[in-house]
Amino acid sequence: MGKFNRYLITAALPYANGPVHIGHLAGCYLPADIYVRYLRAKKADVKFVCGSDEHGVPITIKAMKENVTPQDIVDKYHKIISDSFAAMGISFDIFARTSDPIHHQTASDFFLKMYNDGLFEEKETEQYFDPEKKVFLADRYIIGTCPKCGNDKAYGDQCERCGSSLSPDELINPHSALSDAVPIKKTTKHWYMPLQNYEPWLKEWLLEGHKEWKNNVYGQCKSWLDNGLQSRAMTRDSNWGIKVPLPDADGKVLYVWFDAPIGYISATKELTPDWADYWCKDDTKLVHFIGKDNIVFHCIIFPAMLKAHGNFVFPENVPANEFLNIEGEKVSTSRNWAVWINDYIQDFPDQQDILRYVLCSTAPETKDNDFTWKDFQDRNNNELVAIFGNFINRTMVLMHKLCGGKVPRLHEEFVEAADKDLVKEFTLSKEKIESSLENYRFREALAEVIDLARKGNQYLQKNEPWKLASAMERIKAGTADPLYTEKDLLMLQGKIDNCLYVCLQLTANLAIFINPFLPFTARKICHMVKVVDRMLEWENAGSDTLLKVGYTLRAPELLFKKVEDDQVKAQVEKLHAGLKKSAAEAAAAAPAPVAEEKAAAPAKPEIQFDDFAKLDLRVGTILSAEKVEKADKLLKLLIDIGTEQRTVVSGIAMHFKPEDIIGKQVTLVANLAPRKMRGIESQGMILMAEDNGKLIFVNPAEAVQPGSGVS
Ligand code: 2FM
Ligand code: ZN
Repeated sequence: MGKFNRYLITAALPYANGPVHIGHLAGCYLPADIYVRYLRAKKADVKFVCGSDEHGVPITIKAMKENVTPQDIVDKYHKIISDSFAAMGISFDIFARTSDPIHHQTASDFFLKMYNDGLFEEKETEQYFDPEKKVFLADRYIIGTCPKCGNDKAYGDQCERCGSSLSPDELINPHSALSDAVPIKKTTKHWYMPLQNYEPWLKEWLLEGHKEWKNNVYGQCKSWLDNGLQSRAMTRDSNWGIKVPLPDADGKVLYVWFDAPIGYISATKELTPDWADYWCKDDTKLVHFIGKDNIVFHCIIFPAMLKAHGNFVFPENVPANEFLNIEGEKVSTSRNWAVWINDYIQDFPDQQDILRYVLCSTAPETKDNDFTWKDFQDRNNNELVAIFGNFINRTMVLMHKLCGGKVPRLHEEFVEAADKDLVKEFTLSKEKIESSLENYRFREALAEVIDLARKGNQYLQKNEPWKLASAMERIKAGTADPLYTEKDLLMLQGKIDNCLYVCLQLTANLAIFINPFLPFTARKICHMVKVVDRMLEWENAGSDTLLKVGYTLRAPELLFKKVEDDQVKAQVEKLHAGLKKSAAEAAAAAPAPVAEEKAAAPAKPEIQFDDFAKLDLRVGTILSAEKVEKADKLLKLLIDIGTEQRTVVSGIAMHFKPEDIIGKQVTLVANLAPRKMRGIESQGMILMAEDNGKLIFVNPAEAVQPGSGVS
């Protein structure tokens, strides 16, 4: 624990505009919960705070679409989300709401303090306004025809058909995605935080001071800081949110990303009168668990806010996970390609720990990862059932059969090297698990627990106490070699006892080790071996005297059961059925969809094979990527297509960071006439798939030689 005397652990506040799915769980809530449970087992002073994020544009849009109030939306989803977390054993000390009065007050005060200290710039800009809905429109919410390719569903910031970066002024026939009205321009005033002023401090605190952060997090922060920060508006025009606490600010609210992280402070206030100990004392370790899409807000903007305000501690770490895909495809809530937690709990009642296990052992800690129902089945059947559950079940069954249902004693005179070796493993594993957990390597920690159970199975297999027992039977029945004596009987029982003594102490240790990961299972084990939950305290781990000799234990109950093929099939079908249903609902929905829920690209006229054959499509590898000066949306790529290298200017800068795409394979239209963009000749175009505004490279399923043709 070192220099820290208390811990404040936060998990990203989920938007209260939909239920939570397994991607959320794997991304931040499960790792945060494991970490907190471990800290609690170590008797650390720890608070685990979260809550729902109830402001922001997506909530107002959803309310408008469903013809209800934003309050209805957040009330509904706050409940669904908090019930899902509770059912999955995510053990927040508080799950607050950003609509709570204490939060409104805290966020307002925070803003006012910065305002009074002169830390905002006031700026007036012209922004598009929907005269019917009487709301300002972000560029994304303006739809019109692309002047470059004629796509009539282009957005005010970008045409996703041809990749051109646009401004709303360039659109032909612009109209509001909310009402279809033609937007007008109106002047509006906002309060900006000059993030560039915090750059030197951020570089020192983060880039110099936190080189130990995970590569994905550190790399993203470095790239933001290297590219230079700019002033960012901390207020918005809206009627939903926390009112800007200034006299001339009607219809203005705090930017949702200004208020949400302050939610961590207000949730702590709501939780405990000692909240200031956790937020203001230097010996607090503040750790933010988040998904990768939240990195900039937690590593740059919120710390800059905390610095500006003063008096608060800064995060000691921000262990962000990457994304979890499902059955090979990105999770899409709008397309309903997701495994919802509330559904899982219904379909697999009392089996939360299987999901916790699978999500932790496949957690996207360093790169995006894939969840499949087959893998869910395999990991459950081959690891939880066949290794962990099997070891504990065999131990309990054998103890009842061969030791009269009581914890046997250890017979020192018969102890062998193998017994001592396995006992040593308790401590070795403890050290490894601790080190992995303290470095946020949860997969590695869990693998170590399973490995220890595997060693238990090997030990049982090698000692074969059932064989020793049948040898005893034979001696007693007089069917064994007549030279066997009473002494041999004692020796055999001694060895059986020793083996089961070690296995039972290992069972108790496994309960302690598995507890942060699978808390329901740990409690079941405690019940079987008749110990109270206090045994699960971490300091007990490593001990070989946890279960008292002579103590009668309960009958074994199976910790896990097999997941059957038909369950896997049903879940995969459910996923696909959900997708179809959501597509049908989208097609039936009357008004123009809002930006988040875009209609599919319109069908194009039929073509002949010869038309298609004119395309020279080739796979290339991105050698370098850089931003194009003064063009927010463009990246300049250098692509290796085997015989040559091509420069391609592509409108993907809002979707990818240059450093993340180097080495990726792409499909290039290699015979497209060259075109100048921002003074750079673009020699081809790369193909992208588009999923609800998210762009994905079209590339072969396996890496191929650069230059390979596509037909
Ligand atoms: O991405 C999200 O779901 C945001 N609602 C996370 C907010 S985290 C914090 F800052 F509150
Ligand atoms: Zn276009």
